[in-house]
Amino acid sequence: MDLQNQMKKAVAQAAVDQIQNGMILGLGSGSTAALMIEALAIKIKSGEIKDVVGVTTSFQGEVLASELGIPLKSLSSVSEIDLAIDGADEVDPKFQLIKGGGAALLREKIVAQQSSAMVVVADDRKKVDVLGAFPLPIEVTQFAYLTTVRELSSLMNCHVSIRMEEHKPLVTDNGNYIADAQTGPSILNPVNLENQILQIAGVVQVGLFNNMCDAVVL
Ligand code: A5P
Repeated sequence: MDLQNQMKKAVAQAAVDQIQNGMILGLGSGSTAALMIEALAIKIKSGEIKDVVGVTTSFQGEVLASELGIPLKSLSSVSEIDLAIDGADEVDPKFQLIKGGGAALLREKIVAQQSSAMVVVADDRKKVDVLGAFPLPIEVTQFAYLTTVRELSSLMNCHVSIRMEEHKPLVTDNGNYIADAQTGPSILNPVNLENQILQIAGVVQVGLFNNMCDAVVL
């Protein structure tokens, strides 16, 4: 196993160690969150953690968690999530995040918003002083996506492109496209930028997670 993967495994394990019996958990997406799901399944199997229920943030996470025997519920059927554990693409010193590298940002944000606490699991490459070196993912409707891309590009004064997969636009679990904005490391006021982006009608959600993360395990 390479060093990167070993680090991801270690942070995933450390986050799982915070889980208490009976918790309703938000189970994030991405490679680090997948390792966390695997570590959780091992603890459930051994009886070390009891009576937990997971709410997944992507189809991929749902398949993995159910294959590993983690009891799952839909978000609509639970009143609140005790703890969401998820990965991130960038984390700034105030724990503001860029997420959506895996195109799951909408569900991840809905789950994070319903959670009493959010812990991010990430390797230390994700730590930045200023957000934006990682292209900012924005989920947009398929309808008039090029108009939305133009609006986003003019708002942020940068190149914005629709994410492709096998020569076709990538379609999210929610049937939308992802626009990636090449802002560069220049997002000094992520709260302001999030608000401005959400004013554009074709935008479904943006991968800026502001004031949501309580702790980061690096
Ligand atoms: C999924 O949409 C993302 O927000 C992921 O949580 C993020 O890309 C981190 O993924 P890795 O753990 O694979 O780096």
